[in-house]
Amino acid sequence: MKILVLHGPNLNLLGTREPGVYGKVTLVEVDRMLREHARRRGGSVECRQSNHEGQLVDWLQAAQREGFGGIVFNPGAFTHYSIALRDAVAAITLPVVEVHLSNVHGREEFRRHSVIAAVARGQIAGFGPQSYLLGFDALTAPARRPAPRR
Ligand code: DQA
Repeated sequence: MKILVLHGPNLNLLGTREPGVYGKVTLVEVDRMLREHARRRGGSVECRQSNHEGQLVDWLQAAQREGFGGIVFNPGAFTHYSIALRDAVAAITLPVVEVHLSNVHGREEFRRHSVIAAVARGQIAGFGPQSYLLGFDALTAPARRPAPRR
């Protein structure tokens, strides 16, 4: 399965940006890890980064048309307040897994709330670059789970 990976604002600075929080691995290296991980599992990824909300909305909207089977999405700071991105995730039928490098629930109060999480398939946070790999696995090899209670 071909998975789209979207990195939001400031993630282009990974490696030098607050290394105590986000680590020293660069975005190029994260994308390389993802490509290798996907290849070993017989899939593929396309990785894109933007600092612009509208660009991320456009990519979310186009993903199904472009032949992707799901989206691993780190919305960066937009996570906490972008209704436009929340609405885009809700509007599309492709599954979206929200990922974060840091454990947003253990940081500042304003990071504990995600406007995306309720419309995403799920959220993975706190595992550094591995959050993205877990996001890929969640989309491509979903664990068996009981039917939701009504
Ligand atoms: C982040 C967490 C966000 O709160 C922050 O604004 C980011 C990165 C993460 O991956 O841990 O830019 O999404």
